[in-house]
Amino acid sequence: MSTQPAVTLVVDDGIAVLTLDVSGASVNTFSPQVIEEFTVLLDRIDKDASVRGAVVISGKAGNFIAGADIDQFLEFKTAADAAKASAFGHTMFHRIEKGRIPVVAAVDGACLGGGLELALACAYRIAAESPKTLFALPEVKLGLIPGAGGTQRLPKQVGLQAALDMILTGKNVRAKKAMQIGLVDETVHPSVLRRIAVERARELAAGTLPRQRDNRKHGAKEILLDDNPIGRAVVFRTAREQSLKKSGGHYPAVMAAIDAVAAGYSASNEAHGYAEEARLFGEMAMTPVCKELMFLFYATTALKKDSGVPAGVLALPVSRIAVLGTGFMGAGIAAVSAMQEVPVRFKDTAPERVAKGIAAVRDVIKDGLTKRRITRQQFEDQVGLVSGTVEYTGFGRVPLVIEAVFEELGVKHAVLKETEAVLAPTAIFATNTSTIPITKIAAASKRPERVIGMHFFSPVHKMPLLEVIVTKQTAPEVTATVVEYGRRIGKTVIIVNDSPGFYVNRILAPYINEAGRLLDEGVAVDAIDRAMTAFGFPVGPIQLIDEVGLDVAGKSGAVMAEALGGRMQPSEALQKVLTAGRLGRKGRQGFYAYDEKGKREGVDESVYALYTGGTRRKEMPKEEIQRRLSLAMLNEAVHCLDEGIIGSARDGDIGAVFGIGFPPFRGGPFRHIDAVGAAEIVKQLDALDAVHVGRYTAAAGLRRGGRFYPAVGKPV
Ligand code: NAI
Repeated sequence: MSTQPAVTLVVDDGIAVLTLDVSGASVNTFSPQVIEEFTVLLDRIDKDASVRGAVVISGKAGNFIAGADIDQFLEFKTAADAAKASAFGHTMFHRIEKGRIPVVAAVDGACLGGGLELALACAYRIAAESPKTLFALPEVKLGLIPGAGGTQRLPKQVGLQAALDMILTGKNVRAKKAMQIGLVDETVHPSVLRRIAVERARELAAGTLPRQRDNRKHGAKEILLDDNPIGRAVVFRTAREQSLKKSGGHYPAVMAAIDAVAAGYSASNEAHGYAEEARLFGEMAMTPVCKELMFLFYATTALKKDSGVPAGVLALPVSRIAVLGTGFMGAGIAAVSAMQEVPVRFKDTAPERVAKGIAAVRDVIKDGLTKRRITRQQFEDQVGLVSGTVEYTGFGRVPLVIEAVFEELGVKHAVLKETEAVLAPTAIFATNTSTIPITKIAAASKRPERVIGMHFFSPVHKMPLLEVIVTKQTAPEVTATVVEYGRRIGKTVIIVNDSPGFYVNRILAPYINEAGRLLDEGVAVDAIDRAMTAFGFPVGPIQLIDEVGLDVAGKSGAVMAEALGGRMQPSEALQKVLTAGRLGRKGRQGFYAYDEKGKREGVDESVYALYTGGTRRKEMPKEEIQRRLSLAMLNEAVHCLDEGIIGSARDGDIGAVFGIGFPPFRGGPFRHIDAVGAAEIVKQLDALDAVHVGRYTAAAGLRRGGRFYPAVGKPV
């Protein structure tokens, strides 16, 4: 705990300015210490009759308050503990809202969770016009609901529909939008934020600016739906139906948040809504879902600080990069780099391919323009950073080359040799291969210590994970450099030791294979996919194969089978469909049917003609499908940890959740094993292995028993 005060008070001509600046931290959060300091200072100014108004502002440019310090949530032993903390927040913010002194929130930067709840309790809110200014109530992302009045005050401030939109998604609202929906009263240039805030506090104190104002929009939609009980009933019913459908019932906090908001409208006394919010906050804090989502938060935070190399090994500066191959992946990598202001040399074999690649980069970056995250000037500047070539001109100056050419060892070797001939000796060659072991690619290199894997996922600009694959020869500074570069372009990075399939595709392979075997056994395509989406995956395994492309999936499966044999033997089902010339979505024919535009329709029943039993499919209980598929993946994840392919259960969980969409509410394969119990998992594996001999032999790390994570306290 820091001894430096986090909140300082200056009183100037009757206006108190409370500045929050938690020392030694990059962002301000509400810890018990900060709350205590706040309370003491509020007491002091309340008793000081010379103080007539107040301003709350941050001492950190570009960061207001990022919410509660979530370490304190780990201390909750019971729902009552958590509800008590929520009620305490209510008391504190009620004081600000109803107290003698009007308070102005001067917001520059992230204003999240408890930070926004504080701002909502203030009499006036000003937002600095800056891309860093963001408002959000992200509690549902942690399996919680806003607990310091957010579910009560936000609807009153912006109207029911706009409030639910923020509370149920946790999405960010920028300054301009905040002004449009009535969340803030005014936006100003950051340089005058403090001065204007003090001025407004003075006006509020003098009564020239009323403390109660209605900022809400009052259009037809609001009058119809927000402002009367019948309309609100419709809004709540629709929100419940849509949320249930979207969450598959796996995220109880979303429903609890709707209940808390509804409670604020349902009774005549205001206290009822707040009491319900505290109760539901307490209830949610005890759910397993909340624990797993908190784990993911801690794990990603820990990963950001873990360079995966010994202390003292420094990353090399990367001022520009080159990308080889202007196809689908190359364009994605070039785009996310340019979006971080990194100049890119973009090479392919023919000018028309380069032109096509640059057009694809433009499309990715344009998304930011359409969504108004960037200005037209920024858009042009970013696109302008990508320059095409069909030769290796400019490569002598790049410290990092990312290769994304065809997935063929011969092509990769040829490209590697050509590139090394023009690169500086210290430059790094990173390959985005999805299946070829990096050691095999590095075999053609004169400097194998400078060869590494950077396995991106598609589409690159949307998928959060990057697997960095190191060989026995990779130099630590090379690892440190690409890890840092990956983070710079917004990726969550896990470091994996070189091995067929690396980590993510390795655990995916037996899962996909088992799905294929279920088809061999006569189960219907949609029954398999439905079972796994009910388990919590965003898409089912068969749909995934269609999306990835049957040729790609087949190739990857073959590589895994060749390297690991036995349990990786591909199913006949996949082979048959591939031989029939179906490629999945890209060929508009796979296990599913697609319309002209590539939109997925239902299962393509004609696919069953390839299988024994035809369209007469066998019934299999959902639970059995889930057990067969999930256990194949869980077991493989433990094999990877046993073999040292991943360094920790944490990396394995993050890789699975961010790379494959393993259900976040289960925390990841290792968290899920801990929740079920290793002994139970082994029992289930043994039962399956007795029937499907050799495919479910429990990994040693499971047989040893015990947990992968501590049962209490901070998970990582
Ligand atoms: P793609 O076929 O869209 O693009 C490959 C590009 O490489 C083509 O434009 C081709 O002209 C170019 N190329 C071939 N030989 C070249 C050479 N000698 N010099 C320069 N360019 C050359 O393929 P895609 O999908 O972008 O895949 C590229 C790499 O990324 C492959 O290794 C693939 O396994 C890997 N990968 C693909 C993923 C995906 O979902 N498509 C996911 C993760 C990795």
